[in-house]
Amino acid sequence: MKPLRTFRLEEYLGEWEFSARYYLTASDAESVTLAELLAMGTEEDRAGFMAMPLSYIETWGTGDLREAVAGTYDNVDAGHVLAFAGAQEAMFWAMQELAGPGDHAVVTVPCYQSMETVTVATGADVSALVMRRENGWALDLDELRGLLRPNTKLIAVNYPNNPTGYVPDAATFRALVQLCDERGIRLFCDEVYRGIEVDRERTLPQAADLSETALSLNVASKSYGLPGLRVGWLACRDRALLERLEKRKHYTSICNPGPSEYLAAIALRNRERLWDRNRGIVAANRPLWEAFFARRADLFDWEPPVGGCVCFPRYKGGDVDDLARRLAMKEGVVVLPASVYYSELADVPTDHFRVGLGRLGLGAGLEAFERFLRKE
Ligand SMILES: Cc1ncc(COP(=O)(O)O)c(C=O)c1O
Repeated sequence: MKPLRTFRLEEYLGEWEFSARYYLTASDAESVTLAELLAMGTEEDRAGFMAMPLSYIETWGTGDLREAVAGTYDNVDAGHVLAFAGAQEAMFWAMQELAGPGDHAVVTVPCYQSMETVTVATGADVSALVMRRENGWALDLDELRGLLRPNTKLIAVNYPNNPTGYVPDAATFRALVQLCDERGIRLFCDEVYRGIEVDRERTLPQAADLSETALSLNVASKSYGLPGLRVGWLACRDRALLERLEKRKHYTSICNPGPSEYLAAIALRNRERLWDRNRGIVAANRPLWEAFFARRADLFDWEPPVGGCVCFPRYKGGDVDDLARRLAMKEGVVVLPASVYYSELADVPTDHFRVGLGRLGLGAGLEAFERFLRKE
């Protein structure tokens, strides 16, 4: 493995996330408390949680969790699920398993950095499948076909997308899966924002349901709003691949915390309730951002996310890094400038910033943002 470059987004958030008065860029939906989550479970769930020994659990994940995960797919059973410490650990090992020197890989840009950086660090030759704002960030299958080579092993995508909120239509997504299957290319699909689309018609099928070789990545962190559990998973019907990944996991977390997997299983069994709640928060925040951007149309262009709870408005007033820094320092409002999405493979437009729609209490943050703009 080549050295991994600094994780710009996590570094930026490390500086601001826990000191901000108004964290307007959150990528996760508003969390529930431990008590609220347990209240969603059954009497048996609650008694079982209090009686748990704090021992090691299975590297694969508990049977209970893997059954609950399998219940969220149509064609995946518990044997096709491997649990990880968040989506991050899954991505860290999957990219190393799926690409290496002599291979060619394609990743969507802009993206959550580990998808690109870990893939590049494997020594594979990596191309960007560039998402362009002029095209509404759309997945262009012709452009993708043009990037493919005889040694292309991996195509890694993320829908609903962080940071743009873009989601392809179902026909385009199915065509992507088919293209990978026809060419014998492994599709890695980061689906961590799936489930809270305001228009439910836009919820995509999951890659592992559509293809026998594709991997679906998911996690309790984002649309479920439970990042503190640190429970993620890969679903894939290629059991041999999961077996290789399980061996790799022995060198990092070994297994997840048992209480976290227990709680994640409760969340998954109650997913419709959690997703309804979080979809409702996104739907309620949308008109607030809409009105904010309409009032300052001189400075911003925006499109609401099609899926997930982040999107990537454009700032027309100059240096967006400077805007984000002064906004944080003067009013305690944190947004994420496009520079944290820097890619070594392709240009990412520098005049955008990420905002979140998944958290409660947005109104006060927007007032502070407007106050800042008035004083400019
Ligand atoms: C698209 C995407 N994938 C994966 C992750 C990592 O998720 P986790 O923090 O749950 O490991 C994130 C986190 O922001 C993300 O946005």
